[in-house]
Amino acid sequence: MTIDAFKDFRLDGHKVIITGGAQNIGAGIAKAFSAAGADVLIADLKGDLARATADAIEKETERKCRGIACDVTKEDDIQATVAMALREFGGITTLVNNVGWGGVNPDPLAVSEEDLIASYKLNTISAYRMSAACVPHMKGFHNASIVNSGSFSSAIPASEILAYSTAKAALTHLMACLANALAQKVRVNSVLIGTVLTEGYASAGIDAATQERMLHPDTLTGRPGRPEDVANAMLWLASPAGSWVSGQTINVHGGGHVLRLFGH
Ligand SMILES: NC(=O)c1ccc[n+]([C@@H]2O[C@H](COP(=O)([O-])OP(=O)(O)OC[C@H]3O[C@@H](n4cnc5c(N)ncnc54)[C@H](O)[C@@H]3O)[C@@H](O)[C@H]2O)c1
Repeated sequence: MTIDAFKDFRLDGHKVIITGGAQNIGAGIAKAFSAAGADVLIADLKGDLARATADAIEKETERKCRGIACDVTKEDDIQATVAMALREFGGITTLVNNVGWGGVNPDPLAVSEEDLIASYKLNTISAYRMSAACVPHMKGFHNASIVNSGSFSSAIPASEILAYSTAKAALTHLMACLANALAQKVRVNSVLIGTVLTEGYASAGIDAATQERMLHPDTLTGRPGRPEDVANAMLWLASPAGSWVSGQTINVHGGGHVLRLFGH
């Protein structure tokens, strides 16, 4: 008898929307899910890049992969994305709320209300609204789930990026509440992601010296993350292999910081 240990990690029959999937971590998730057999719709502010990324993935995996221009802070765009998934795939089984980002707040006591609200709209409220729009279409599927790109910065004091880290903390709790509300219908889990160095770090105001330090982090694994590290965890959570996991936040961050008692 041949045993296939990876059978339950496949996503055949799954119809997935991934927000912010045009590049970096989101594109890594889209590629992994598509390679595992899912139909994937990439919804991203950068519509052309979303379509180009989707085309490249489809060529490689030979699974349906589509892209759409979507601003997840706009209800009309959310509805258009849901409509496209229904039209192209005939349903929605899985949502990955991956959009998010924020800049440095040099003075944590002087963050404007405007910046706080903008961060919460992008990192927290968009995921709530995407979930509300998708859930009615997901409920009948045996392995329906939502997976969120959270941040490790939401689980530790991170005052340098206060607007972002607190919005991500709110996202984690929001999604725990949704897991409860959707019990036995849709599983909801979040991945708290550590440092995955991208060009976004420079535009967020993180200088070159700090980025260099981040290349050699003092974590249990001693390396920064790659999009595949996040994608693999999300694949497990979204697949039948993760079907007994809901309401959880999983750290994928290189193992956290090392405490060296004896200097090893
Ligand atoms: N890179 C890291 O080190 C890291 C660490 C912790 C958490 N995260 C989280 O992981 C996720 C992905 O991070 P990344 O580094 O790949 O980010 P990224 O900035 O490279 O990619 C984000 C994508 O989202 C899209 N986007 C931005 N605003 C949007 C909007 N309003 N509507 C639709 N799409 C929008 C962008 O066009 C981009 O393609 C984010 O939620 C981020 O907060 C990243």
